[in-house]
Amino acid sequence: MHHDDVEDARPTGLAAARHALHAADRVVIFTGAGVSAESGVPTFRGAGGLWREFRAEDLATPEAFARDPRLVWEWYGWRRELVARCVPNAAHRAIAAFAAARADAASTSGVRIVTQNVDGLHQRAERELAAERAMPSPDAVLTLHGTLFGVRCTHCDARSPHTAPIDATSRATLPTCASCGSLLRPDVVWFGEALDPAILDAAFDAARHADVCLVVGTSALVQPAASIATLAARAGATLVEINAEATPLSALADVSLRGAAGALVPALLGEA
Ligand code: OAD
Ligand code: ZN
Repeated sequence: MHHDDVEDARPTGLAAARHALHAADRVVIFTGAGVSAESGVPTFRGAGGLWREFRAEDLATPEAFARDPRLVWEWYGWRRELVARCVPNAAHRAIAAFAAARADAASTSGVRIVTQNVDGLHQRAERELAAERAMPSPDAVLTLHGTLFGVRCTHCDARSPHTAPIDATSRATLPTCASCGSLLRPDVVWFGEALDPAILDAAFDAARHADVCLVVGTSALVQPAASIATLAARAGATLVEINAEATPLSALADVSLRGAAGALVPALLGEA
């Protein structure tokens, strides 16, 4: 390849992807930890990733929680506090603005945000944008892996928001269910657990009908989440990927942009 071709590849890919996204009726935006990296939220598998430092089988499985709920709660409490100190970045804000602009259009067109993240930063960006514009917040993000800011009862399964600090000094101080008194657990999906079928179905359905699927900041290694992108591509969607590194999806993508989400997502979705 001639050197000039390499120089040309990125702007051309970006321009083509921008055009596809702005011309599309239906867009699915599928995100992973990389979209929040520039907010200061650690990813899982890269440098500084949580699974480099911690063993998932000790902290993020139902067996780990049954064995040592205090340890698991301590870790989730730490992650919750860490994320609470972070704020949405330019990528979250550009995604929220793009979705809001399409929602305003009052047609069949639409943007579905599907995330593997439990950090709530897409939702915060949506709420902040809605507040700025004095509009109701759509709160329509499909959260495949649950939320750090919610709990679920280990006995009666009742779910509720939960943002109070976790006191993990002992088993006795852990949060308990208001209706049945049993131990509460973080409302996240652990390894070996099934995803909420209603949320997964809605995500698959959006993928099947998407004109464009934009994938941002995921290693695309965790199933079934990763199949949202392959399903969309198989159903005919243009697949656009933004990632700091190559992933298993890169070869399948129509356009694969290598770089930071905080710069590339606004460049793709922004007005100018
Ligand atoms: P990973 O940590 O596996 O992947 C993060 C991806 O983001 C990598 O491909 C990085 O190259 C990329 N990345 C990092 N910084 C970036 C940046 N600033 N801009 C763009 N890309 C960047 O995270 P996920 O793919 O989200 O599951 O992991 C999937 C699931 O595995 C998570 O939801 C979690 C984890 O175990 C559960 O909690 C159930
Ligand atoms: Zn209960």
